[in-house]
Amino acid sequence: MRPPRTWTCWAAAGLAGGLLIVGCSTETKQRWLHVFFTGVDGTNALSASLPTAVVTNVVAVTAAVPAAPVVYMHPLYAERKCDACHLTGQSEQLRATGSALCLECHQKLIANAKFIHAPIRDGRCDQCHEAHKSTERFHLTHRAQELCLSCHTQVEMAKVNAHASLGTAECLSCHDAHRSDQKGLVKSVK
Ligand code: HEC
Ligand code: HEC
Ligand code: HEC
Ligand code: HEC
Ligand code: HEC
Repeated sequence: MRPPRTWTCWAAAGLAGGLLIVGCSTETKQRWLHVFFTGVDGTNALSASLPTAVVTNVVAVTAAVPAAPVVYMHPLYAERKCDACHLTGQSEQLRATGSALCLECHQKLIANAKFIHAPIRDGRCDQCHEAHKSTERFHLTHRAQELCLSCHTQVEMAKVNAHASLGTAECLSCHDAHRSDQKGLVKSVK
């Protein structure tokens, strides 16, 4: 009762094909994760298996590329606890929308505050923070000072009495980005 030869052959081909698909998707996934976590495509690693002459060229090309910048990540993203914010580890869908998601864990940030910065009141953490990562500390969308000045113009700020000698002073040296118990989001002296 041996199965016909063709059947065995197809089964083997099927198995090989299956392995191939698994092999491919794992590699793609790893490459994807690599890009995801370092922002650098791992394809240059291939140069190790290229002939020397070609490697020289590759080196010449990559030498002109500036060093990869530091990447700041949300700790849970870095720990790959994707389901802390997404419905499942595989889903793009979020467990909650807007700042409701963020405030599930970060209530302390604004709890009992007398004054809350307007964008936060409006539920827009994303106006200043990337959800996953960025090249700015606290995974901000832009450098903090640029962020402040993208909504509050230098010209308008110069008109504020308290800013008489503002110059290029860091906004955050006097203001809190999120909340304060003092008027004008002035940092509370603790
Ligand atoms: C701190 C919460 C948080 C964690 C942890 C997190 N995500 Fe997200 N993710 C978000 C938010 C918020 C968005 C929507 C971002 C937007 O619309 O700009 C998002 C969007 C996405 C998207 C849609 C495409 C994109 O980048 O906008 C993918 C894919 C994704 N996340 C994958 C992941 C994976 C994989 C992990 C784990 C390694 C992860 N996320 C961890 C909050 C999180
Ligand atoms: C499931 C809980 C959880 C959710 C949801 C969450 N965070 Fe966090 N977040 C943490 C923990 C835990 C830390 C690390 C401890 C800390 O700094 O409080 C952290 C740290 C941070 C930090 C500081 C990172 C650093 O470099 O020190 C920022 C900024 C931040 N979260 C923003 C967000 C934003 C924006 C969202 C919504 C997109 C969000 N978080 C959603 C748990 C969460
Ligand atoms: C107007 C811009 C802005 C918005 C909107 C904003 N943040 Fe921030 N956030 C900042 C800046 C700037 C820093 C860095 C503060 C510093 O350097 O002192 C920061 C730092 C943080 C930190 C880490 C340091 C800390 O103070 O604990 C957390 C956590 C955080 N933000 C969470 C959030 C969450 C959650 C939201 C939405 C509810 C949010 N932020 C909305 C600008 C913003
Ligand atoms: C996405 C736009 C946006 C960004 C980014 C932003 N702000 Fe604001 N900010 C606002 C709005 C809107 C108001 C409310 C203005 C009003 O009521 O006239 C406000 C109000 C303020 C106030 C006055 C609060 C009060 O109670 O009088 C201060 C101080 C302030 N922001 C500081 C900052 C600082 C510091 C930064 C950078 C960390 C910053 N803002 C970034 C939109 C922004
Ligand atoms: C030397 C400390 C200091 C610095 C630096 C500073 N501020 Fe202020 N700012 C103040 C004080 C004090 C007030 C007045 C608070 C009040 O209403 O009593 C104020 C008020 C404001 C207001 C409310 C203006 C209004 O019309 O009521 C905004 C918005 C603001 N600052 C944004 C900024 C931004 C953006 C930066 C950075 C470019 C900045 N501040 C830098 C101290 C400072």
